[in-house]
Amino acid sequence: MGFSENFVWGAATSAYQIEGAVKEEGKGEHIWDVYVKEPGHIYGGHNGNSACDHYHRFREDVSIMKEIGIMAYRFSIDWSRVLPEGFGSVNESGIVFYDSLINELLKNGIEPYITLHHWELPYEIYKRGGWMNPQIVEWFGEYARLIAERFSDRVTHFFTLNEPQCFVGLGYLTGDHAPGIKAPLRDTFEMAHNALKAHGRAVQMLRQYGKQRLTVGYAPTCGMCYPETEKAEDIEAARQALFAMNQDDRNWTWNVSWWSDPVLLGNYPEEGLKRYEPYLPRITDEDMKLIAEPIDVYGQNIYNGRCIRMGRDGMPEEVKRCEGFPKTAVSWPVTPEALYWGPKFLYERYRKPLYITENGMSCHDVVSIDGKVHDPNRTDFLARYLKELKRAAGEIDLRGYFHWSLMDNFEWEKGYSERFGLVYVDYQTQKRMKKDSAYWYQDVIRSNGANL
Ligand code: FCB
Repeated sequence: MGFSENFVWGAATSAYQIEGAVKEEGKGEHIWDVYVKEPGHIYGGHNGNSACDHYHRFREDVSIMKEIGIMAYRFSIDWSRVLPEGFGSVNESGIVFYDSLINELLKNGIEPYITLHHWELPYEIYKRGGWMNPQIVEWFGEYARLIAERFSDRVTHFFTLNEPQCFVGLGYLTGDHAPGIKAPLRDTFEMAHNALKAHGRAVQMLRQYGKQRLTVGYAPTCGMCYPETEKAEDIEAARQALFAMNQDDRNWTWNVSWWSDPVLLGNYPEEGLKRYEPYLPRITDEDMKLIAEPIDVYGQNIYNGRCIRMGRDGMPEEVKRCEGFPKTAVSWPVTPEALYWGPKFLYERYRKPLYITENGMSCHDVVSIDGKVHDPNRTDFLARYLKELKRAAGEIDLRGYFHWSLMDNFEWEKGYSERFGLVYVDYQTQKRMKKDSAYWYQDVIRSNGANL
């Protein structure tokens, strides 16, 4: 047992993190374009103005994907590149760019997977209240319609939102991400509700205007939970912890069920409805119906997890990480078990074919004296995580894995200080170089994980 014959091995990026060309050919501004201008927001004063210059170098990037053997490429469309104001008039040059990228991918036998929203909220929409304005549901729907009309003759795989936990939680609660606001809790629940409705509306529009049968999904995130032992009570404790609400209200967005139960089960979790009752907007049956518009696949971005056991009091408790626990360059814990238990628990609850839409690590990568980029930590990380995923693949309907990221890129508020790529980018020269892990991943793809 292992990965199915048609398992999809991919890599992922997002528009602002790689494209650059922020002022070119009619692109409008989005919240990150504006946010990076203010000193103090981004490490080292960095910005995505040039990023990986993918806008001009996408052909080279596609050829690198082909060399690695990548079967599918998950990328996002910059909403403000195709609709500079977020609604209304279309920027045809933006459409031409994505058309050319899609054609180049297909020519090279790489399947495009489009994410509609990976945080590039058009500034004009932000000015009108952004996620707080209920009109965003229709604006996002119209944007989805445009994407379906223009690209779905060639593209059949779509994800609506990437990590709403982050664009609401980091953008509007902690203020670490654009637009950098610390909003009242009440507002953030309203934004979350509108975002979920926007997701539902986009699903409808993709279906209505799709030129063929489309596979539509959703790509939230969250830390996973895994049991300390395989004793039934520990497994149950980990399951409960995974779907529980966050006990810290200012961090409420970090949970799975508030974001996924409505989409896949048609209701918000009871625990959350009780806990957050004072902050909730009006929620109607009609809203819930829209949010639960059926999707085909479920995507989850998984980077790590927490170890859980059943406490003596019959309540799940977190097992403290040991001193000196393994961590990545960005200090995220290395917990391969997250890629077995996470998918398994998610599948048990939601019963949807699953993709891992992101997973990977940042390392302190450098070009060595021999001119190559050796990243044994990344290969080790991937070997451990993918082995766990392989176990899950034997038990659930798992469709694919997208490595984050294809190449080093602009890591949001951390600027270029974190390198997540299989491909090294020299930002001074824009030279790309495959890291050792890219060659290793090539073998994984070729053997469909037999070498794990
Ligand atoms: C995820 C984001 C992605 C990237 C990785 C490291 O949360 O979706 O854009 O920042 O983390």
